[in-house]
Amino acid sequence: MSMPKYVDNIINNIVDSEIRMTDNAHKPSVVVPSGIRKGLTNYGDSGFSLFLRKAFIKGAGYTDEALDRIIVGIANTGSGYNPCHGNAPQLIEAVKRGVLMAGGLPIDFPTISIAESFSSPTSMYLRNLMSMDTEEMIRAQPMDAVVLIGGCDKTVPAQLMGAASANIPTVQLITGSMLTGGHRGERVGACTDCRRYWGMFRGQQIDEAEINEVNSKLVASIGTCSVMGTASTMACLGEALGIVMPGGASPPAVTADRIRIAELTGKQAVQMARDGLTPDKILTAKAFENALRVLLAIGGSTNGIIHLTAIAGRMGFEIDLEAFDRMSRETPVLVDLKPSGQFYMEDLHFAGGMPTVLRELRPLLHLDALTVTGRTLGEELDEVAPFAQHVVRSIADPIYPVGGIAFLRGNLAPEGAIIKQSAANPVLMEHEGRAVVFENSEDMANRIDDPALDVNADDVLVLKNIGPLGAPGMPEAGYLPIPKKLARAGVKDMVRISDGRMSGTAAGTIVLHVTPEAALGGPLALVQNGDRIRLSVSARSLELLVSADELVRRREALVLPKPVDAERGYRRLFFEQITQADKGCDFEFLRPPTMIARVPARDE
Ligand code: FES
Repeated sequence: MSMPKYVDNIINNIVDSEIRMTDNAHKPSVVVPSGIRKGLTNYGDSGFSLFLRKAFIKGAGYTDEALDRIIVGIANTGSGYNPCHGNAPQLIEAVKRGVLMAGGLPIDFPTISIAESFSSPTSMYLRNLMSMDTEEMIRAQPMDAVVLIGGCDKTVPAQLMGAASANIPTVQLITGSMLTGGHRGERVGACTDCRRYWGMFRGQQIDEAEINEVNSKLVASIGTCSVMGTASTMACLGEALGIVMPGGASPPAVTADRIRIAELTGKQAVQMARDGLTPDKILTAKAFENALRVLLAIGGSTNGIIHLTAIAGRMGFEIDLEAFDRMSRETPVLVDLKPSGQFYMEDLHFAGGMPTVLRELRPLLHLDALTVTGRTLGEELDEVAPFAQHVVRSIADPIYPVGGIAFLRGNLAPEGAIIKQSAANPVLMEHEGRAVVFENSEDMANRIDDPALDVNADDVLVLKNIGPLGAPGMPEAGYLPIPKKLARAGVKDMVRISDGRMSGTAAGTIVLHVTPEAALGGPLALVQNGDRIRLSVSARSLELLVSADELVRRREALVLPKPVDAERGYRRLFFEQITQADKGCDFEFLRPPTMIARVPARDE
């Protein structure tokens, strides 16, 4: 039986418009279906599947000519609950313009959006869900390349985890930082200043009228937090990884520069589809080593290490925290942004953004790492002209002599813990004190401000059960508040230890990510009020000064908390699959079965 003419045409078109995917070594090309012909539903008749698909999308007014183009999907994470992504409509419009200019067809699609303040129990609990959503929608829908619009803390890592697994040409587009505001003549920005003002309010240095007034000043526009918090950190790491357009990390959300980057991103995505420039060629071991180096040099968020571990894990790379710590000893902090320094993201942008940082770090980077432009990092940096500025220091004149993050071990953290030393109090980084223990967040909330709490400024505050399983989702509760009675006496910092995380916008002598966590029976679960704890950042050690016999006795009596409401749905999956901080808190089943290399490579 002969086919109708239009079906013949469709089948011929399938062959005509297949795309030749080549790799960068110019190996023989592989022909794969492209554009609207990708991933057809299998009814046993591919001609009919395509016929049906085209019939439906033509309902939206598309022509055959449009549908024959390379398709660039655009992950739209705009949401009324996410002001950090408030410019998503403008970005999508600009990406579409870029795609059309390059001869492609842009199609936007929604995925989950996660905003820090609107994600209970915590945004981290939802990061892996967003990564699965991103990966599956990239796989399910026909697209030759994808632009991922992300910004708020967990969105960029979630999208990069998903894209790493889906492995089609990908460019990450950052939403950009918010503008800074002004309060009574002082420049302010979220959220380092949020914490500072709240600390002043708790310490009775400002009254209720002023705290209410500053509440309207801290976030001056849509966009992500204006300091070197997790969102800014992940934007910078994206550029260091080569998966964000050069110069794409720093433009504030409401600027023309941000819109221009979006247009360029769309244009480049089409080229990447033509060249078959997939994430596995960009997210290499060298790229992750560059990103680790940058994390240290920007005084980046401690969350950056968890997210990089998770993204690298998807590519089969294991982050070696001991080697990362050695890297930290030779990588100074160059970027003078809060909370480690004094400036804001918009200042970094005026100072040339990440190209300026990467140019300063050039001797410490792998310059042959490939970027989304198809050129190497070194080739991109060759084009960066130096100019006088005061936000990014030189290696010879850093704001902090070694890297921002130190990796600790000891009997209290056998699998490790970290401290953001660049934002800690130097006096407290070598400290021994008496433990004041809170069993969980609720216990802390109930007692921390109790005037009868037995606590002194020299004590060590310990919070248990806020790890990946414990809370669940490892909330950013590791920034324990200073007990009110001490805050009112002028105490600004104490050693604080937990198995949780803290916001990248926070500062203090705070030990985080203690692994294994208390809810898993880690040694943190055994700490009792009055125990002595010794922190030595110079020796990279965290020790519980309790005899081994006593710890055995306590372990025998230990009763672990049971997961709550974990019988069904995502919550059940979460409790069954979540890994510890040293594996990036990814789900076990989303990681490849074996790791192919350690990053950074050891110099053996
Ligand atoms: Fe979204 Fe800070 S709350 S970036």
